[in-house]
Amino acid sequence: MKKEGFCLERKKIEVSESEIEIQEQFIEKIRQNTSEKFFMIVTYGCQMNAHDSEKLAGMLSQMGYTETDDKSKTDLILYNTCCVRENAENRVFGNLGYLKSLKRSNKNLKIILCGCMMQQDAVVEKVKQSYKHVDIIFGTYNLHRLPQLLWTNMETNNQIIDVWAEHKEIVEDLPSIRLHSFKASTNIMYGCNNYCTYCIVPYVRGRERSRRMEDILKDIKDLVSDGVKEITLLGQNVNSYGKELQVTFATLIREINKIEGLERIRFMTSHPKDLSDELIDAIVDCEKVCRHLHLPIQSGSNAILEKMNRGYTREYYISLINKIKAKIPDMLFTTDIIVGFPSETDEDNDKTISLMKEIRFSNAYTFLYSPRSGTKATTMDGQVSEETATMRFNKLLGAIKPISNEINQGMKGSVQKVLVESLSKNDDKLLSGRLDNNLIVHFQGEKELIGNIVEVKITDCKTFYLIGERI
Ligand code: SAH
Ligand code: SF4
Ligand code: F3S
Repeated sequence: MKKEGFCLERKKIEVSESEIEIQEQFIEKIRQNTSEKFFMIVTYGCQMNAHDSEKLAGMLSQMGYTETDDKSKTDLILYNTCCVRENAENRVFGNLGYLKSLKRSNKNLKIILCGCMMQQDAVVEKVKQSYKHVDIIFGTYNLHRLPQLLWTNMETNNQIIDVWAEHKEIVEDLPSIRLHSFKASTNIMYGCNNYCTYCIVPYVRGRERSRRMEDILKDIKDLVSDGVKEITLLGQNVNSYGKELQVTFATLIREINKIEGLERIRFMTSHPKDLSDELIDAIVDCEKVCRHLHLPIQSGSNAILEKMNRGYTREYYISLINKIKAKIPDMLFTTDIIVGFPSETDEDNDKTISLMKEIRFSNAYTFLYSPRSGTKATTMDGQVSEETATMRFNKLLGAIKPISNEINQGMKGSVQKVLVESLSKNDDKLLSGRLDNNLIVHFQGEKELIGNIVEVKITDCKTFYLIGERI
């Protein structure tokens, strides 16, 4: 069967033999060769990686492996890594040290590293030199080749390294094991073209490329017939979906909204500079699109935004939010902020704080700037000390929390539709669910309700969640 893919020059290319068919042969070989075996996947980073891990789990289960969370029992442990900040990388190296002793007691244990961190030559070199107990390394562009790489390692017992420098084709139809039966995510695009000066993602995930609309729609229809009620569309910058296909994100949303049986549509991440009026209108018209927008601002200071290469100003961002609020008054906004970017001053941080107060985000994810090798910001003047950045960080958090709290308080007394997701982590007599606007609510109910949408009256709130009762 011939498959179409997209090469870097954004021309359609034909791939002579389906990668899936090749991998299916290796899956079969391993399945026949394998008695009962267990696997464990540890995932770092964003939803993109979490979704990749679902595909890796899908392939492993087809190969005859069963998932476990018991390190002492597992036959295969796979780290799907992230390198967006240094601490994510440090955690992986820390674990690799520990795995050395685990491998001593279980010589047949397979240790596999993949994901964004592996797209960096220096990391692969370090693993080759210092972590010889790692069996397989692959990157973000070729995760579909896991069966082939595992088979080769089983046959040769050599350390196998297969990291591609660039994306070759979009491989459709990978099996996957989803975390939830009632909600799922799907990639609508891969990579990023924006080169924000602090960010490593374009270097490890490559240039933007969009999946064909018909493939996405088929994917979602299949998920819905499988019981999925809520879909999250994934991409580093979903608002620029479809540029090379002459189709817009707004069109895609309108088409997805028509899918019968689907109840909720979420998407992330939106870049402010590419959020069009056409998209706002589509959100207004499409009743399934949730009333929550994650719109990272990164800083409230124009001087810093410019150095970050974000492509918008504070004023543009505020007017964009006001435009959306005017058309969709119940929309809640969340954002990302980086504190301590090179040359940032206390005044810049105060501007970010004043922006928090002006926009009133329901939540803001705050990060200390982490220099990433190869990015432009690492060579900029005025690197901020950790001590100063931490002080600003705490001041910022102090401004964000009361606003989140006020927004939660404002929900009291209202009746909301809630998708019940799980038992509450702290109290298994309570259920935990998500409102359309992404706020979390805990309420009493039977665990059989998990996966259903129910009506809940909000009665109280805590800092990070609401409390309600079913009506
Ligand atoms: N594509 C998304 C975000 C991807 S990374 C977007 O453009 O919004 C998620 C978040 O990590 C970013 O929004 C940013 O706030 C943070 N981040 C990225 N690189 C970072 C760095 N070098 N140091 C600290 N935070 C960083
Ligand atoms: Fe990174 Fe910027 Fe691309 Fe987001 S838009 S992934 S922050 S380069
Ligand atoms: Fe990390 Fe890669 Fe996502 S660097 S944030 S896992 S795209």
